[in-house]
Amino acid sequence: MEVVVLDDAGEDAGQMGRDVRAGLSATPKDLSPWPKYFYDAEGSRLFEEITSQPEYYQTGAELSILEGCSAEIVARAGCGELVELGSGSASKTRALIDAMFDANGTEGPPPRYVPLDVSESALRESAERLVTEYPGLEVLGFIGDFDLSLGRLLGRSSDRDRLVAFLGGTIGNFTPEKRRRFLGALGDGLREGDRALIGLDLVKDERTLTAAYNDAAGVTARFNKNMIRVINHRLGAGLDPDLFSHRAVYNAEQNRIEMWLDSEGEQTVGAPDLEARFERGEGVRTEISTKFTPDSAARAFDEAGLELLDLYTDDHDLFALALGKPA
Ligand code: SAH
Ligand code: AVI
Repeated sequence: MEVVVLDDAGEDAGQMGRDVRAGLSATPKDLSPWPKYFYDAEGSRLFEEITSQPEYYQTGAELSILEGCSAEIVARAGCGELVELGSGSASKTRALIDAMFDANGTEGPPPRYVPLDVSESALRESAERLVTEYPGLEVLGFIGDFDLSLGRLLGRSSDRDRLVAFLGGTIGNFTPEKRRRFLGALGDGLREGDRALIGLDLVKDERTLTAAYNDAAGVTARFNKNMIRVINHRLGAGLDPDLFSHRAVYNAEQNRIEMWLDSEGEQTVGAPDLEARFERGEGVRTEISTKFTPDSAARAFDEAGLELLDLYTDDHDLFALALGKPA
């Protein structure tokens, strides 16, 4: 197992300061273009806890697709290397790794797993767990930001055809503009025999959607407020996380959940080079989570120059995995 640092996005306080200043100067205040700031070690842990909340249907639905279809996906992709973007705990990825071992039999080199995540703790822990669980699995992990380093990651030389997975519906956390750029860079980075597998949360009834982001145990609220803790810790912003209340609503026009933090009182950001003030009741948008239809998924692939080969869904049409190839 080897872990390589690809860029310093996780440590670059200067860039974070510029992003947060831009977000807090916007009207309304908007930190949602930078979802990576949720994921310090505590944020990664809280996301993991969200995935086991009964209201958060995405993880179970995506896992059921992977358990049912990984063998077919791996056979269609003919891949010897699995690259995973934003891999986190990689808990669902095991279905794909199992299928790669099964397809491999006893011949040929063992499969290679290449995860990339901005969260160093999540990446190291999952890589260590996987090499223990899968003797023979080659793991080459990268700590880095897929906004900055996707081209470099995909430009690595490889002796195998690759399956590039982006699971969990994380693509829904991108603004439309960033989604286009990301998918375009993905399309440019794929070689002829490579395939992409992208998890997409599907449009469904509003109650199910809003419940998933307002779990009764309050884990999503803690995850949301963790962004304030990260900003305090890294930029010395001096905000009071407990003075914010969590709000998650469905924006039906844009087909997306929006998470907000509303300040229950006046507060001033006290960091050097970062002046901002929250009025009582003023909110900051912290995350968008876009939901797709089969048509909007096909459009997103098309715009990016990717050919959509198949859209695998679970039995209840909650979630989809889109398999694509460079057009
Ligand atoms: N794929 C996993 C985790 C999803 S949570 C799953 O399906 O369960 C989103 C993951 O993306 C987190 O692990 C987070 O650290 C990572 N991430 C968010 N923004 C990132 C960025 N800009 N570059 C790399 N990783 C990022
Ligand atoms: C990682 N991402 C797809 C999650 C989502 O559902 O948008 C992050 C999350 N935010 C709140 N709960 C989970």
